[in-house]
Amino acid sequence: MKTLQVALEDRSYDIVIGQGIISQAAEYILKVCKPQRIMVVTDTTVASLHLPALQASLAATGLPVQVVSFAPGEGSKSLKSVEKLYTEAFAFGMTRTDLVIALGGGVIGDLTGFFAATLLRGVPFVQIPTTLLSQVDSSVGGKTGVNVPAGKNLVGSFYQPKLVLIDTDTLQTLSDAIFSDGMAEVIKYGCIVSEKLFEALLQAGSRRGVEAMLEDVIYACCDAKRQVVEEDELDTGRRMILNFGHTMGHVIEKAYNFQKYTHGQAVAYGMILAARLGEKLSVTAEGTAERITEILEKYHLPTDISLTGDWQKTILLDKKMQGKDLSCVLISKLGTSIVHKMPAEEFVTEIESIL
Ligand SMILES: NC(=O)c1ccc[n+]([C@@H]2O[C@H](COP(=O)([O-])OP(=O)(O)OC[C@H]3O[C@@H](n4cnc5c(N)ncnc54)[C@H](O)[C@@H]3O)[C@@H](O)[C@H]2O)c1
Ligand SMILES: [Zn+2]
Repeated sequence: MKTLQVALEDRSYDIVIGQGIISQAAEYILKVCKPQRIMVVTDTTVASLHLPALQASLAATGLPVQVVSFAPGEGSKSLKSVEKLYTEAFAFGMTRTDLVIALGGGVIGDLTGFFAATLLRGVPFVQIPTTLLSQVDSSVGGKTGVNVPAGKNLVGSFYQPKLVLIDTDTLQTLSDAIFSDGMAEVIKYGCIVSEKLFEALLQAGSRRGVEAMLEDVIYACCDAKRQVVEEDELDTGRRMILNFGHTMGHVIEKAYNFQKYTHGQAVAYGMILAARLGEKLSVTAEGTAERITEILEKYHLPTDISLTGDWQKTILLDKKMQGKDLSCVLISKLGTSIVHKMPAEEFVTEIESIL
């Protein structure tokens, strides 16, 4: 069992990481809030696997608990789902001192966080992430939101949870594909802030190897995200380094209409491209792209994706554009990231030459 504190003044909270924590959820929760009733938001897959343990723990509080489940998948991260949650919450009698719990992956975490942020202008919420991606990334840092027809994550708010409970046992029920998807973000932390983590992951070399040191790996990732979020809660500067591999990752996701490649797969190849670009610009130590390729192969992430169509347009519409310049995250070597500003046109030309 390991604990981290995200220090954000009156919005500070703990991240508790360990095996079987769900069955002690109520004890941890009652230390940070005193609700009269609890709403649990989850998806049907997670509900069938991990809700009973949470419910057993919450039952001991004697408080009324209302569970709302959505269909698994990105489609549930919608305003329609938020509206359903408002209706359920008012019917249940939720007040501003009650509690909302998100039990699930990033979809449920983002949706529930946004719902909690806006219900009665803010109700306390606790994150219980159950995918590798949500345990190392989305549950920490307070970005919440939903998708709208104009695009993904375009409506949302910064709203920090009161507590993040990471039960590493929940990952045992993840498919290899979803585990591998989350590994892309884990490897990203190695690239941007910790060469030590990168080396440990390279050595572990497989899902089984990572599972043997899961608590330490998740701790290292959450600690990295914690530091960045503490420095730049509202994402106006340093937090940008978390986008390593994401500029081209988004281009790939979009080029294939969010169908062919998962986020992690797209980011994986995006990291290779960012390293190759850095090497070409003499910003990144030679051989870095090769090492990233080596580690991604071990975790069954793609190391070559063909890009066709007018993907260049996606770059020019990127929200990280400032005038004609694009800020891209590069690494000078494994574990050390830098933000590199360059004309977007030049970025496109350089990427075309290394694809
Ligand atoms: N807020 C942030 O800072 C942030 C950061 C990164 C990503 N995100 C968001 O996170 C979302 C992706 O999250 P995700 O990858 O966790 O996807 P997800 O929530 O869709 O979960 C993936 C699948 O795994 C299933 N699942 C969840 N836990 C399981 C378990 N323990 N065992 C078996 N199956 C389980 C789910 O039912 C779902 O089908 C995206 O919407 C993305 O925009 C947010
Ligand atoms: Zn990501």
